[in-house]
Amino acid sequence: MTALFRPDATVHLGVFYQGVNHTTIWSDPASGSQIDFETFRRLITTAERGLFDAFFLGEGLRLREQGGKILDLDIAGRPDAITQLAALAGITTNIGLVATQNTTYNEPVDLARRLSGLDVLSGGRAGWNVVTTDNAWTGENFRRGGYLDHADRYVRAGEFLDVARALWNAGGTPDSVRIQSSQFDIASAAPIPRSPQDHPVIFQAGDSSTGRDFAAQHADVIFSAHGTHFDDALDFANDIRARLVARGRPDDDIKILPGTQIVLADHERDVDEKVRWVKEGQFTGPTTLSIAGQVWGRDLSDRDPDGPLPTEDPIVSGVVGARGSAFNGIDVDARVREWRSLAEAKNLSLRQVVIETSARTGFAGTPSQVADELTRWVRGGASDGFNITPYLVPSGLDDIVDKLVPELQERGSYPAAYGGSTLREHLGLRRPSIGE
Ligand SMILES: Cc1cc2nc3c(=O)[nH]c(=O)nc-3n(C[C@H](O)[C@H](O)[C@H](O)COP(=O)(O)O)c2cc1C
Repeated sequence: MTALFRPDATVHLGVFYQGVNHTTIWSDPASGSQIDFETFRRLITTAERGLFDAFFLGEGLRLREQGGKILDLDIAGRPDAITQLAALAGITTNIGLVATQNTTYNEPVDLARRLSGLDVLSGGRAGWNVVTTDNAWTGENFRRGGYLDHADRYVRAGEFLDVARALWNAGGTPDSVRIQSSQFDIASAAPIPRSPQDHPVIFQAGDSSTGRDFAAQHADVIFSAHGTHFDDALDFANDIRARLVARGRPDDDIKILPGTQIVLADHERDVDEKVRWVKEGQFTGPTTLSIAGQVWGRDLSDRDPDGPLPTEDPIVSGVVGARGSAFNGIDVDARVREWRSLAEAKNLSLRQVVIETSARTGFAGTPSQVADELTRWVRGGASDGFNITPYLVPSGLDDIVDKLVPELQERGSYPAAYGGSTLREHLGLRRPSIGE
C-alpha cells in the first residue's frame, strides 16, 4: 500500500442526500421533512454556498420491507431523482446535479434522453451514477419482472452505456444510432444536442471486482463505500488506479469520492460527546430493533433495544424476508456470534452492539482537525474528495460550509470560487472525445 504525494491536490465535496435512511436523525427538532421541496432547496443552496461540486441523489425503485411490512422510514417515500434535480436546477447556478439511475430496469434511449435533458437545461451540470441494483424483488415492479444475475447485469450496464454515449455523441447531428448487442437492438435518432459539458458525467457505485472493472472502463467518478479508514481507502484507490492503467487510461482519469459523514465540534473536549449524541440519535430503539430483526430474520419489534441480545438463533431464511436489506447474503450465524462475543466482552446492550458495529462515523473533530484529515486523504491519494451525508437535514451542512470549508481554504486545499460552470469542470475532468 503506497500513499501518493500530491501536494497541490484539492478536496472535492459533494452532498449525498439519502432521503430514506437512518443516517439522518429524523427525531431531532431541527430535522425537516424528507420530501418537502424546502428541504432540498435549503440543502442544495447551502452546498452551493460552500462551493460543493455536486448534489447527489441515490435511487430505490421499491420501498424496503421487513416481514411483509414496509420499513417505517420508507413510508414517506422519495421523489424521483431526475424530477427532483430538474426542479433544483432552476434555483441553482453552479452546483452539479447527480442522479443515481439503474441500468437493469431502465431503457437506454429513454434514460439517455432524460439525463441529457437535465444536462442541457442545467447548462452542463448533470451527472449519472450508474448502478445495477442488487435485488430480484425490485424486478417485480417491472413489466418483464425477473432479474439478471450479477455478471449479466454488468454486461447490460456496459451495453446500456454504449447506447447512451452513441446517442449523446450524435446529439445535434442528423445521424441516427443503430446498435445491436447481446442486450439491445436499437435504431434511434439522437434526441437532444450536446450540452456545454458534452454529456452527463458518469459516476459509478458498485464494489465487486466486476463493478470496479466496469468503473475503470466507463466511469469519470466513483462513489465508493471506502470513506472511514485511510488505509482501506488507499487500498481501494490503488486498486482502481491499477485497473485504469490496465485499460490504457491514465491512473488519475477517475475521481474517487467516498461516501462519508462528518461530525464537527468547536472544542476538542466536546468531540466524543457529539459523536455519541449523533450515534444515539441515528440508532433509535425502533431502528435498532429493525436492524437486529434483519440480522436475526425474526420480528424483534417487541424487544427492549436497551436490553440483552436475543437468545434465539437467527433464521437464515428469515433474512430473505427483509427486502432491500443491506444484510441480504451475509453469514447471519457468524454475524450473531460476532455480536454476542462483543456484547459479552464489553457488557453491551443490543443497541450498543448495533451502534458499535453499524455506525460508520467517517470523520470527527474540530473543524481544524477534520480539515487536516481531509487534506491528508486527498494529498496522500486515498481519495479525491468526499460525498458527505449530513446527519441533520436540512441544516446539517451549515457547520461544514461555515467552519470546515474556510479551514480547507486556509490550507490551500479547497477552491475560493467555482472555476467553471459545468460539473465536468468542477471535478477537473477532461472532455470526452467523440467515440467515448
Ligand atoms: C456506495 C454505493 C452506493 C450505491 N447506491 C445505490 C443506489 O442508490 N441505488 C441502487 O439501486 N443501488 C445502489 N448501489 C448498489 C449497486 O447498484 C450494485 O447493485 C451493488 O453494489 C452490487 O454490485 P457490486 O457487486 O459490484 O457491488 C450502491 C452501491 C454502492 C457501493
